[in-house]
Amino acid sequence: MSLRTSEPDLYRLLEGEITRQREGIELIPSENYVSVAVLEAMGTVFTNKYSEGFPRKRYYGGQEFTDQIEQIAIDRAKKLFRCDHANVQPYSGAIANMAAFSSWLELGDTILGMDLSHGGHLTHGHPLTLMATMYRFVRYKMKDTETGEIDYDQLRAVAKKERPKIVLAGFSAYPRELNYARIAEIAKEVDAIAVMDIAHIAGLIAGGVLENPFDHGFDMCTTTTHKTLRGPRGGMILTRGIAGNPLKQPEKKRENLPTLVDRAVFPGVQGGPIMNIVFAKAVAFGEALQPEFAEYARQVVKNAKHLAKHLMKRGFKLITNGTDNHLMLVDMMSSFQMKGKQAESVLDQIGLTLNKNVIPDDPLPPYDPSGIRLGTPAVTTRGMKEQDMETIADWMYRAVTHANDSTYLTKMSAEVREYCIRFKLPSDSSGSDV
Ligand SMILES: Cc1ncc(COP(=O)(O)O)c(C=O)c1O
Repeated sequence: MSLRTSEPDLYRLLEGEITRQREGIELIPSENYVSVAVLEAMGTVFTNKYSEGFPRKRYYGGQEFTDQIEQIAIDRAKKLFRCDHANVQPYSGAIANMAAFSSWLELGDTILGMDLSHGGHLTHGHPLTLMATMYRFVRYKMKDTETGEIDYDQLRAVAKKERPKIVLAGFSAYPRELNYARIAEIAKEVDAIAVMDIAHIAGLIAGGVLENPFDHGFDMCTTTTHKTLRGPRGGMILTRGIAGNPLKQPEKKRENLPTLVDRAVFPGVQGGPIMNIVFAKAVAFGEALQPEFAEYARQVVKNAKHLAKHLMKRGFKLITNGTDNHLMLVDMMSSFQMKGKQAESVLDQIGLTLNKNVIPDDPLPPYDPSGIRLGTPAVTTRGMKEQDMETIADWMYRAVTHANDSTYLTKMSAEVREYCIRFKLPSDSSGSDV
């Protein structure tokens, strides 16, 4: 029996979500639309299989096909990111970070990471996370929020004083490129490993438009697979080093990072891998190896730069005055005396989805911050180009300057919907209804 027949109420909710995705403009920078092949891969019988362990080293029988799909996912990931080892099992980015930290650290050790209000992610030691109770987090920041340049002298000074075992780079709300060589050099100087959380920009690195931390001396990268990389929801850990036997605990040496990471994932923080998701990761990585994906990644950045330019032209104050990647952070208070939450809600009313966000050293609290964050991965997958970015900038300006005029906003929402449905979602062409 089909889902439509067996679960009509749930099915209606699925249809609602399909319509929502089709008729709105998705500007949340961590979201994207996967291909039909990736969707299909997730809904396969690999979900029925337990595969604790690693290819050819499992705790259950019946791994003839799971071993092959996981190995293909690993090989493709290594090729995409030019590294020595890939663990494709993490259930999410948060779990990938947890496993990565625990692979190298003892309880109470220090991690030097980016200040959370300057772009660092919640999983990089927010006080409310378990990680913050296990490790000591110290911070570095931007030197100048007008340019986005990191204060590398401060980073080095803190590293020398605090002797971290991990120097962590990576962000979810920082629009500029990092100087990886400089960070890796500082990490070496204090005998720490250099780890980059590439969750947001993995697709842009894979597509060759942003620098690859492994080309500049980094030891490890953690990532999600569902943002710019356009795969299924999940995580992954990539390392340099020599793969050993994951059934044996190796010494904590840089060259053993592959095995340390494998053991930190399983049995460290996870049980059996979600094999239908591993299958979908293999499919997504195969797509990311194609020349069309590099073209997609280039267009994501072109669109973001164009949108940034046109927002700034209309009075939106962008943190760092632009972007090098796929995302922008806007100080709505200094632009329009409007809090991020209100901006998010007004834009939602016309069909533009984005999120409120803290700005660097935000005087307002995180649940009611000064800024909004937006980006171009999803609209680029839909086929939007530079001229469409100009239209989006215009809609945003008109909406925030008519925030109290509900009739105007309702009219605008019809205009957005009509424009938007001209751009197909990948699933629209499949004939399938998921
Ligand atoms: C930089 C970064 N790391 C980790 C994560 C956590 O990923 P997940 O939501 O898959 O746990 C995110 C998600 O937003 C992120 O942006």
